[in-house]
Amino acid sequence: MRQTEIRRIPVSYPPFAVSEISRMPLRPLANLRILLGVCGGIAAYKAAELTRRLRDAGADVKVVLTANAARFVTPLTFQALSGHPVRAGLWDEAAEAAMGHIELARWAQRILIAPASANTIARLAHGVADDLLTTLCLASDAPLAIAPAMNLRMWAHPATQANVQTLRGRGVVILGPGDGPMAEPESGPGRLLEPHQIVAELVALHGPKLLSSLRVLVSAGPTCEDIDPVRFIGNRSSGRMGFAIAQAAVAQGAEVHLVAGPVHLATPAGVERIDVRSAREMRAAVMQQIPQCDIFISAAAVGDYRPAEIAAHKLKKSGKALILELSENPDIVAEVAALKKRPFVAGFAAETESVESHARAKLERKKLDLIAANRVGGGAGFDAADNELTLLWPGGKEHLHRADKLTLAHGLLERIVALRAKPAKVRRR
Ligand code: PMT
Repeated sequence: MRQTEIRRIPVSYPPFAVSEISRMPLRPLANLRILLGVCGGIAAYKAAELTRRLRDAGADVKVVLTANAARFVTPLTFQALSGHPVRAGLWDEAAEAAMGHIELARWAQRILIAPASANTIARLAHGVADDLLTTLCLASDAPLAIAPAMNLRMWAHPATQANVQTLRGRGVVILGPGDGPMAEPESGPGRLLEPHQIVAELVALHGPKLLSSLRVLVSAGPTCEDIDPVRFIGNRSSGRMGFAIAQAAVAQGAEVHLVAGPVHLATPAGVERIDVRSAREMRAAVMQQIPQCDIFISAAAVGDYRPAEIAAHKLKKSGKALILELSENPDIVAEVAALKKRPFVAGFAAETESVESHARAKLERKKLDLIAANRVGGGAGFDAADNELTLLWPGGKEHLHRADKLTLAHGLLERIVALRAKPAKVRRR
């Protein structure tokens, strides 16, 4: 749902109103025929949103429910969401008059089972074909991906783990499971991945790679400017937005370097990370990478000022007001954009009011190719799972509606790819 909104609402200023239409961002799973198998379990309800998101990503989706799944969710739901009749059994006389299950097995270019129960995983591992879904899996050449969902002890059980290993050995892709609270009051590995994560994994596996053979540099997180050995000036950035961009760029085939301020986040797989603390350290790390990179995305919340001097020892209370003298930090993104030989430069604008006009002024003043404007403060923007962005570039804009930061990151990258396709002279007019 959100992805469709992201992709459908570009608003343009002249002179790009017409050409904008041809630069509509790609649907990463366009025309891919996915057979979605849904097993019984409480997570089956999430398969409805998954169907919707797969279609938003451009896939043609047909759904098969196991008998147990049909106790949790109805075929009608999936029929409405997929736009195709739903099969829930092998013994449907009308469908099987023309060997419907073989036709379905041939139709599928990919089979995705989400949620995949411990029972179905066991039957797949042993080649059992005693219902429509397992029969289809045996009868089809399509690559199979499964997203397990079950109680944490069922997932950890040696039998399940052995079955999963068997499937992996046959080239089946295992998506997840996630780790966290379950329907029963327990927490641990066994949760179904969120629908957007499953779609992102599928895109990474099967979608066109927007950024293959490109080198992307991302800055993320806050900078910390030391006052003395125990105190510093910092900000509320968690690094989540920049890390999501790095993760999305890897999924889109880029070689990614991530310059990170002090954050508590795991490095996304495939990303080369460089840790820094202050704005000046961040500048040095960025400048070292710039000559090798094609795209620089400055998502870091870089401190504009630093204490003019760092006290060698902890400052003591004096009973009077303390006045700190601050020096201005280098403006990293503006410095990169001013280079003669420069990559595509995208900045962010964190604003608390007049978001769009302040952001457009920054775009122009810093001579960026694009700026992603977001409202911050009052719980928005910083350290939140979701965000909302307005992308601005010379002569155009696009609003990315509220979504998780990974989805927004993909939307941002799609726009960058579309803009890079234009010659720099036209782009910066
Ligand atoms: O990290 P999260 O918790 O996920 O939060 C995400 C975010 C709110 C930090 C992110 O979405 C965001 O807005 N990042 C930019 C924050 C910022 O510093 O904005 P700004 O408007 O002050 O700066 C404008 C641009 O100049 C930014 O690209 C910034 O990286 C860059 N800049 C700023 C100052 C400076 N000295 N050097 C710079 O390069």
